[in-house]
Amino acid sequence: RPPGSFINAANTDFTIATNRTAQKAALKDFETRHLGKRWPCIVNGKKITNRAFIASVNPARPAQIIGYWAQGTVQDADEAVAASVAFFPQWRATPVDVRASILETAAEIMETRRLEINSLLILEAAKPWLEADGDTSEAIDFLRFYASEIRRIVTPVVTQDVPGEHCVQTWSPRGVGIAVAPWNFPLAILTGLTVAPLVAGNCVIIKPARQTSIIGAYLMNILREAGVPAGALHFLPCSGADAGAHLVAHPQVDFIAFTGSREVGLNIWQEAGKTKAGQINLKKVVCEMGGKNAMIIDTDADLDEAIPAVIYSAFGFAGQKCSALSRLIVLETIYDRFVGRLLSACPAIPVGDPSQPGTIVNPVIDEGAQKSILAYIEAGRQECHLAWQGTLPPHLRETGGYYVPPCIFTNCRPTDRIVREEIFGPVLAILKAKDLDEAFEMANANDYALTGGFFSRSPAAIDRAKTEQLVGNLYINRGCTGAVVQRHPFGGFKMSGGGTKAGGREYLENFLFPRLIAENV
Ligand code: SER
Repeated sequence: RPPGSFINAANTDFTIATNRTAQKAALKDFETRHLGKRWPCIVNGKKITNRAFIASVNPARPAQIIGYWAQGTVQDADEAVAASVAFFPQWRATPVDVRASILETAAEIMETRRLEINSLLILEAAKPWLEADGDTSEAIDFLRFYASEIRRIVTPVVTQDVPGEHCVQTWSPRGVGIAVAPWNFPLAILTGLTVAPLVAGNCVIIKPARQTSIIGAYLMNILREAGVPAGALHFLPCSGADAGAHLVAHPQVDFIAFTGSREVGLNIWQEAGKTKAGQINLKKVVCEMGGKNAMIIDTDADLDEAIPAVIYSAFGFAGQKCSALSRLIVLETIYDRFVGRLLSACPAIPVGDPSQPGTIVNPVIDEGAQKSILAYIEAGRQECHLAWQGTLPPHLRETGGYYVPPCIFTNCRPTDRIVREEIFGPVLAILKAKDLDEAFEMANANDYALTGGFFSRSPAAIDRAKTEQLVGNLYINRGCTGAVVQRHPFGGFKMSGGGTKAGGREYLENFLFPRLIAENV
């Protein structure tokens, strides 16, 4: 395939009975053969096993231990940086074709182990099947897309065609960096944050999210198996406050690729701006944070399309996506009809155990998240009207799983807490707008600008949304989650992030220095 061309991986079709049977068997096999293992840190190819091992549990059944991960220390972090600095010249000089091929091999490995990987995502992150399979596809896409992108970028671009001087722009990797990833797309986002800088010729230290460190360890093993050299990639699950903060501040760390909470992101942004003694490069921060995403339902919206899109965008994976819908703005003239139909559709939303194929609303990631979301639901009860609350099937109440009932609130005002703050759970606030002017004003009146949705059949209204609804990813007449690599470059601005686009054509440039070479000929 020519450089820069790329085809997305196909998701598994779970409507086919044999695929469901195969996924069930893979889950059972994973539970029988792989649970409870100890996963070391890996620095410069060396397994570090004499550290505190922390249990990672299944959020749907916290008594089930998925595995134990070794907690890396500040000393391990220093060793990983030193090994990276030492190996960087060699990795930078490795032909692009070799680096890209390693990513393509890793994609093949993931494709052949897709159902096993899905099982780990279902067990460690409580991902419903479709979400787990989508996460795996996205990881494969990042590998193949960034491989094709580096092959495209490697060709120097002539800046101006003039007689007597040959002028080209080329790219050079930045150096050593860390990939700090969230637990909600524990494979896809971690893969993207790791392999984009890696294929660009940088050395990378992986710091996975605490809750999904085993998935991080699994990814590390695949990348090493695919041929990533020991010095180029290190796996360091660790405390963010301790070894993580040390890495961010380290003078020999040249970039931080981060996706996660606003609090941590802003802290990294600030710390990375403090130049230390001995620091060579200004630190680059790729920072993707939260969202408080709004969808507008115009008076002539197609409700047969809008209602499933609203439900899935708000409640899929229990709303634990920075892209999730959390503010629904409905035009006054259609409000009663729309909300009536939405509420009558809600009791059919499957809430339950992610190991069952039909589940849409799974337990949330841990007890802390459960408590925080329940507190928001309580705030919603005080400020707004609880119009619908889902229920958990009785047999799941004994599991200890971190379930939160999906909720819809009406009578919400822009000043209410559940309308302003990111909840990261299955909670939807509905606002009424008298016209499109007010709808756009409400949609934009927020700290975040990540995704947004607009449902309308009016070309004039759609044109207005394109210019007036100011978000990084605007989705018209469709749901606002599930960005596909290359098709929907993903990322926002305001407090959602620094304006970078994961899975987009310019993304690798974040991890490269542009250079100009002018030659008198
Ligand atoms: N990229 C994901 C989505 O679009 C969110 O991280 O849903």
